Amino acid sequence: MDKLTIRQPDDWHLHVRTGSILKTVIGHTAKQFGRAIIMPNLKPPVTTVAQALLYRQEILAALPRESKFQPLMTLYLTASTSVEEIKKVADAEHVRAFKLYPAGATTNSDAGVADIEAAYPLFAAMEQYGVPLLLHGEVTDAEYDIFDREKLFIDNKLSKLTRQFPALRIVLEHLTTQEAVQFVEAASENIAATITPQHLLYNRNAILAGGIRPHFYCLPILKREHHRQALIKAATSGNPKFFLGTDSAPHLTGLKENSCGCAGCYSAHAALELYAEAFEQVGALDKLEGFASFYGADFYGLPRNCASVTLEKQAWIVPEAYANTDDTITPLRAGESLAWRLVAA
Ligand code: DOR
Ligand code: ZN
Repeated sequence: MDKLTIRQPDDWHLHVRTGSILKTVIGHTAKQFGRAIIMPNLKPPVTTVAQALLYRQEILAALPRESKFQPLMTLYLTASTSVEEIKKVADAEHVRAFKLYPAGATTNSDAGVADIEAAYPLFAAMEQYGVPLLLHGEVTDAEYDIFDREKLFIDNKLSKLTRQFPALRIVLEHLTTQEAVQFVEAASENIAATITPQHLLYNRNAILAGGIRPHFYCLPILKREHHRQALIKAATSGNPKFFLGTDSAPHLTGLKENSCGCAGCYSAHAALELYAEAFEQVGALDKLEGFASFYGADFYGLPRNCASVTLEKQAWIVPEAYANTDDTITPLRAGESLAWRLVAA
């Protein structure tokens, strides 16, 4: 197959930041996707509907004028989130969910939740008002091995949470392990998951074998090959619990290529092309449309997009970096070739 037309996809997990980074990255997402769930881990975090609506205005103002792209906003759950704010989200057209970062888990997560059980009254309210909970599913305690953190979160926190709140709608974000795939498959239909392009295409050798490659460092960290294969199987299975969420997370090049480099892969420049490559490797391009364009919208109770997009087998070289006023942003696959190219949206 050398041409593929599918319904326009959505990105159910995206970081776009603010200011000059927002201006550099937003066009990349807007040319591919109809909508995106925008992460709230700014500095300071987006914790109220009022702040989210201001942030949404900044995103809309940074879009190309003709763009129809719709940002779907989220709030950052903290120990001081109120039930009042949860009710407001339930009634807000442009704010769709709460994101829970365990405190210290990743970029700008210091204001996150230190004690998940202390947040149970908030989960009860989210369950009652039908507001989805988006989870960064990793334990954070320093004694835990970084490669085990997702599995331990599932065993020690998530299993209990889902038993306690069976009607709460949960998206376990950026799955990285076979155990996470199995958990989601076995869970109720209220539990779904996103999968990133980097976790479908790479294992942990990409970061560490033959030299340290900081542009492959993201959290949760890339895992062993058998985990990657479990993710590929889930994404291409046609199971509607698994859908597209890039976790594209731009950082300035100097902060990635650093003695303490930031976590995050920038993939928005070629998101759909990267997923197409992963699906094609296992002969499953026919499953891309459901994963990219149907299941996420269905889970969030939103209509599927009406427009379509076309990818062609047409090799192109990814730029070494994208310009930004302060520095550059180095994309995934910088300077390398991609087989698929988005030709029409
Ligand atoms: O690698 C990551 N980068 N993982 C996250 O959870 C956050 C993200 C970011 O905001 O940079
Ligand atoms: Zn993220």
